[in-house]
Amino acid sequence: NKPKILLARAIFPEVITHLEQFFDVESNQDDHIFSSTELIEKLQDKDGLIATGSEPVSAEVLRACPRLKAVCNQAVGYNNIDVAAATKAGVMVTNTPDVLNETTADFGWALLMATARRITESEHWLRAGKWNKWRFDSFLGADVHGATLGVIGMGRIGQAIARRSMGFDMQVLYHNRSRVSPELEARANNARLVSKEELLRQADHVILVLPYSKASHHTIGAAELAMMKPGATLVNLARGGIVDDVALIAALREHKIAAAGLDVFENEPALHPDFLTLSNVVLTPHIASASEPTRRAMAACAAANLLAALLPAAAGALPPNLLNPEVKR
Ligand code: GLV
Ligand code: GLV
Repeated sequence: NKPKILLARAIFPEVITHLEQFFDVESNQDDHIFSSTELIEKLQDKDGLIATGSEPVSAEVLRACPRLKAVCNQAVGYNNIDVAAATKAGVMVTNTPDVLNETTADFGWALLMATARRITESEHWLRAGKWNKWRFDSFLGADVHGATLGVIGMGRIGQAIARRSMGFDMQVLYHNRSRVSPELEARANNARLVSKEELLRQADHVILVLPYSKASHHTIGAAELAMMKPGATLVNLARGGIVDDVALIAALREHKIAAAGLDVFENEPALHPDFLTLSNVVLTPHIASASEPTRRAMAACAAANLLAALLPAAAGALPPNLLNPEVKR
């Protein structure tokens, strides 16, 4: 009698083949988006769930699914899961850290460069047949090289982003709950810890890579945007809700800052319609970790976590990325 698991969203077929050796798998290759009610219904006879990071696993869902023993997110962020409620309910929770650090850092740079140098805006203009309107002063952007980079959230992804700035002769400021070691600061282009306010006032380009929590809700709101330089770029690679989107729209419209590059939004996959009316924002649909090898590695990581959670004898260890080791198993 194999344990029963649910895959919340479509996944690479080889992952399903692998999981079927150990589990009775209910997959979702049509990629139907479950409502909370459907999710609860499907989880009634399930021991484990692989989620993508966008399915809310609330206290209510956990209460309603007494058989559930493990929720394995295919994401480094896990703010979609009420971990405290999971711990109380005896449910192990895992994420996929590390495998996506470098890929996500690459994308942070792609978004920063595209935003500072107005790449998508100018492409839309070109596609609209406007090249004959080109002027010597068309699409003037901000320089990236030689500028000051502000990294808010100096975790592994923040460090990987800062490290990449070495080739651009940048000064790096960072803000974080605590100072990282001098060795890591040196590797991160001699990054210097400063207050959030100093970072916002000094940086030409600010990049957000901190996890979402109640404490980081609206880390960037109207007051913070007002501190930034008028020519500054803001990149959000982290989570919707870390930026107050309404305040950001106002700042972009009034040119309080030059531009923003956003991979995440409040209320995804809906986004504030006003973003679509602004030319000084680059918008991507939460794809920072979506390189071919990294998405495969994230899926494999979540599968390995689930295997260790539900079949510890077969896996020979605890889930490698267990977020609530205090859970009673
Ligand atoms: C994606 O946003 C992740 O948390 O991995
Ligand atoms: C993610 O793993 C981070 O620490 O930023």
